Amino acid sequence: MKKTVLVSGGAGYIGSHVTVELVEAGYDVVIADNMSNCDDTCLRGVREITGRDLPFYRMDFCDAKAVEQLFSDVRIDAVIHFAAYKAVGESVAEPVKYYLNNLTSFLNVLDAARVHGCNVLFSSSATVYGEPDKLPVTEESPRQSATSPYGNTKQMCEDFLRDSVKAYPEKIRGIALRYFNPIGAHPSALIGELPRGVPNNLVPFITQTASGIRECLSIFGNDYPTPDGTCQRDYIDIVDLAKAHVCAVRRMLDGKMESGYEIFNIGTGRPVSVLELVNTFERVNGLKLNYRFAPRRAGDVTAIWADPSLAERKLGWKAGRSLDETLKSAWEWEKHIRGIK
Ligand code: WQD
Repeated sequence: MKKTVLVSGGAGYIGSHVTVELVEAGYDVVIADNMSNCDDTCLRGVREITGRDLPFYRMDFCDAKAVEQLFSDVRIDAVIHFAAYKAVGESVAEPVKYYLNNLTSFLNVLDAARVHGCNVLFSSSATVYGEPDKLPVTEESPRQSATSPYGNTKQMCEDFLRDSVKAYPEKIRGIALRYFNPIGAHPSALIGELPRGVPNNLVPFITQTASGIRECLSIFGNDYPTPDGTCQRDYIDIVDLAKAHVCAVRRMLDGKMESGYEIFNIGTGRPVSVLELVNTFERVNGLKLNYRFAPRRAGDVTAIWADPSLAERKLGWKAGRSLDETLKSAWEWEKHIRGIK
């Protein structure tokens, strides 16, 4: 029998790419989203790529009754939880909004999983490592106290999942995937990232600068203790990232987990500086970007990249797409949504 995976936040950037990979891997997928931070562009894209009209529930995961109803109506074998607010800066300005939404929605998922029995995959973040003492970071590297309410919700939700697995081992198994910096778009250019307003993240800011929506990219800081003075991150291709979810779901559903709760870093293992990323974007797309150096951005860590070897050993997953391909896909997507030839 085909297994059914519920993707909360499935109309968003990561959720839509994961949905596509799950369908291609042969799973039945149910999408749920309250559409609070996206329009239906990615839903339409998913339909076009997969050729399938997937079941879609417009619902808010903070609504406990609606979540319970969904789990009663549909036999869900695994849930991947993306439905959350994700802007770091906004979370500092509006912590209550972030705590209410991101914690409540996940608690409702866990409560339904506890009642109905379900595997739970939580979308965590490398932000839980803070400014690491040692690089690259492994899953054993200590978590640092969060510097934003957003980061704090990631840590808290990891703990909610760990404790729930411990308390209800017959009902819940869980995996937390700690993403590094997801970038790029599907090769079809039919789904991708659609930030609202001024982008906070680097790659959407770059593509919007290239398309003329933004005048100039500010590179935040060129005096960091790194080879070229700009921050280093581990940029992970969105399709590679999506495939990691399929591997994790398979591991849960095939009973391959070695303990009830597991954590995996999802990154490439390769540090890339802001300047390198900008230069690569220019080179692969044959463009010149208008940029300037600006003061450091508050809260940025100097450098972080993953040791992804545990995911490779246990999930059989490894990042595959090159940075060149990923940055080409980011530009193809930007051109697609702006109607640029
Ligand atoms: C990357 C680098 C910036 C914008 C955040 C969250 C994380 C995750 C992903 C999301 C940094 C520099 C950026 C710009 C720049 N969460 N930069 N000019 O901060 O590593 O991670 O996003 O949902 O939890 O913390 O990603 O893309 O914002 O920044 O120079 O206009 O690019 O200083 O060095 P970050 P980012």
